[in-house]
Amino acid sequence: MAKKVIAPGSAVCGGIVVPGDKSISHRLAILAALAEGASEIRNYSPAADCASTLECLKRLGVKIETEGMGGKARGQNSTDRGYLTLRIHGVSLRGWQKPRRTLDAHNSGTTMRLLAGALAGQSFSSQLDGDASLRQRPMQRVIEPLERMGAQIRSRKGGFAPLEITGASLRPTEYTLPVASAQVKSAVLLAGLFAPGTTAVIEPIRTRDHTEIALGEFGATVRRNGSRIEIAGGPRLLARQVAVPGDLSSAVFILAAALILPGSKLMLLGVGLNPTRSAVLDFLAQMGAAVRVARVEQRSGELVGDLEVKSPDGGGPGDEEHRRKPVPLRGGKIAGPDVVRMIDELPMLAALGPYTEEGIEIRDAAELRVKESDRIAVLAENLRRMGARVEEFPDGMRVAGRAETGSRGLRGAEVDPRGDHRLAMALAVAALGASSPTTIRSAECVGVSYPAFFDDLEAVVQR
Ligand code: S3P
Repeated sequence: MAKKVIAPGSAVCGGIVVPGDKSISHRLAILAALAEGASEIRNYSPAADCASTLECLKRLGVKIETEGMGGKARGQNSTDRGYLTLRIHGVSLRGWQKPRRTLDAHNSGTTMRLLAGALAGQSFSSQLDGDASLRQRPMQRVIEPLERMGAQIRSRKGGFAPLEITGASLRPTEYTLPVASAQVKSAVLLAGLFAPGTTAVIEPIRTRDHTEIALGEFGATVRRNGSRIEIAGGPRLLARQVAVPGDLSSAVFILAAALILPGSKLMLLGVGLNPTRSAVLDFLAQMGAAVRVARVEQRSGELVGDLEVKSPDGGGPGDEEHRRKPVPLRGGKIAGPDVVRMIDELPMLAALGPYTEEGIEIRDAAELRVKESDRIAVLAENLRRMGARVEEFPDGMRVAGRAETGSRGLRGAEVDPRGDHRLAMALAVAALGASSPTTIRSAECVGVSYPAFFDDLEAVVQR
């Protein structure tokens, strides 16, 4: 699939089971590999990023079996897809073997940064590398604390991959995160497993806490006191049976389609609702969507539930009368700690801007420039191609709304997400509300986080 054409839609209706959470899958796989005995991970993410983590773990001598491919998604209009159940034969904290080849994280920042933490405490040296995008992403943020704990890490000038990590007997540290990053926090906590005594991370802005939850599930002692998280070094991690919730960051793309297409009504089943990730649902509600959360329960320490979303016009028949009127969608500004809580959803929210009354403004989000692409620049360029009025700032962007542009939304165009999965999906959803078809270049990049994205979208879109 090089190019993908997205024709305008009239509504989205039905139900979908979104794939397993990418963030949580990485963490569970790494911890299972450091535990003693065979762990079972159900609903492991099918994302290419999560496969990269497994490939690296295999190179470190960990045996991983894949079971249970197959099975059907539940619900109306759902797509056939396999559920991935893994059996990971953990070899204990110090049981990883020196890899004979470079560990390739491909496009995955989480793979590289989290593994750097676990490799810092090993008794061998290893190389971590990635694709052209990952080689441009800042790694100094993990190098600094891990070196402070005693590891030696060589990198390309400026702190870029490839990394050569020489593990050591680590000493505990107390580290205040200079950037609000769950990946950096996680790297330090994983290294803390190998340091005798207590390692502490202080996070000025609360980031996703999947690592803390997963560490607890596998038997480590992790305590949070306000912004301070402590981990006790040297635990025995024990094999577990765990289940991964659906990925809210993937679900958001499908949900967003319901906001711009009048008469939409969607059910998403088994979605992760961890409060450090779910701020986007409040924002969608503030925009005018009716979001209902049902059947909430805790699974493997994480909150999971079903989501029902109706478009701001209350959902409905999607008939001619509905189609003629644009949905009454409100815009808004996202800044401060909310940026961290919605970091991966910001591209989708920005791409909704032209369909809102007041537009969408994002500030305090310079981190978006060092994701899989410079998400501010690449999104601005592509939304402009589709007729949006976009102002760029060093730390964000403003996408003008209907009140300012006087238009109903976007027009179709040929867009190029530059290999960035979240931009490809955000543009595809924005294209559903456009006045003519949109062509997305190298659309296969969606496989980085959501391989079945286009199938799932087609399953619920009405034209
Ligand atoms: C992630 C943390 C975030 C997020 C990324 C996944 C994680 O990155 O953008 O997609 O799994 O910890 P940062 O930690 O760099 O903010």
